[in-house]
Amino acid sequence: MNKTLSEWLHLRENTDAQARSMSLTKSVASKLSSDQPVHILDLATGTGSNIRHLIEHLPTRQQWLVTDKDQQLLAELPTQTERWCQTQGYKFQRTKFGYVILGTHLECHIETQTLNLSNLDSAKLFHGHHLVTASALLDLVSASWLRTLINHCHAVGAAILFTITYNGSVSCSPAEHEDEQILKLFNLHQQTDKGLGGRAEGPNAITCAIDCFSEVGYQVQRESSNWTLGTKDQEIQRQLITGWGKAVKEIAPETTSMIKSWETRRLAHVDANRSKIIVGHDDIAALPTEKT
Ligand SMILES: C[S@@+](CC[C@H](N)C(=O)[O-])C[C@H]1O[C@@H](n2cnc3c(N)ncnc32)[C@H](O)[C@@H]1O
Repeated sequence: MNKTLSEWLHLRENTDAQARSMSLTKSVASKLSSDQPVHILDLATGTGSNIRHLIEHLPTRQQWLVTDKDQQLLAELPTQTERWCQTQGYKFQRTKFGYVILGTHLECHIETQTLNLSNLDSAKLFHGHHLVTASALLDLVSASWLRTLINHCHAVGAAILFTITYNGSVSCSPAEHEDEQILKLFNLHQQTDKGLGGRAEGPNAITCAIDCFSEVGYQVQRESSNWTLGTKDQEIQRQLITGWGKAVKEIAPETTSMIKSWETRRLAHVDANRSKIIVGHDDIAALPTEKT
């Protein structure tokens, strides 16, 4: 793993939480039965941000299976979650099978599994889950991967909540004349192979997912979950700008000097407290059609 990814996930957790659509979360939660513990599968969990966000909105007895290919990111989950529990007044315990979070009206078991999700051939992972969720994952996956995922979810009748999927739109102010060209190249980079089934859908992931859901008869809802970054978000803006620059240099090395100049001006706007950036994201929730 890279420490950088861990730091990036930590940096964005709050921004993600503020951007997420609460109405979609509530809509999915309202369809989950409270009669039995709700079984949730979180794909590409990282350090657990999606769990910490959802815990308080889902039925109170929860059984999570959380997966990521990066063992070290998963190893950070207990420390970060224990710290979060302290702020929320919950007890956090390690158990033989993972972790448990206990509150007056909350009992949430978490099992972690290091797993490369590059192919989803095995249906076993999905068995028994009422909700399949992922945060900041969908734009990294290919259309065929997405179709396989949705077929697995459909086979077990799971509800789905995919949040914070990048949708290809970015607006920066003050504007710089290279912004549009850089965004175009960055979006091309987002469509290279990220190791999840081939060429990633990138900015087209939401449309692709909606098509796949319709094919199997899911009811889909979509809401925007844009990041709106202002002067209090200097560090995340800096990381975004340098991250975009790095990606564009990879895909179009001939632009290196142009990127350097653009980055210098963009970072200067951040340092001078005048930079605002909106990054387009969408959340989608999908519910299996009720059988009559
Ligand atoms: C942008 S991060 C999102 C992490 C987390 N869901 C969050 O919102 O903080 C993408 C995650 O996908 C994981 N990932 C990427 N490729 C994967 C693969 N082939 N199998 C499993 N996990 C993968 C990374 O390790 C990383 O944790």
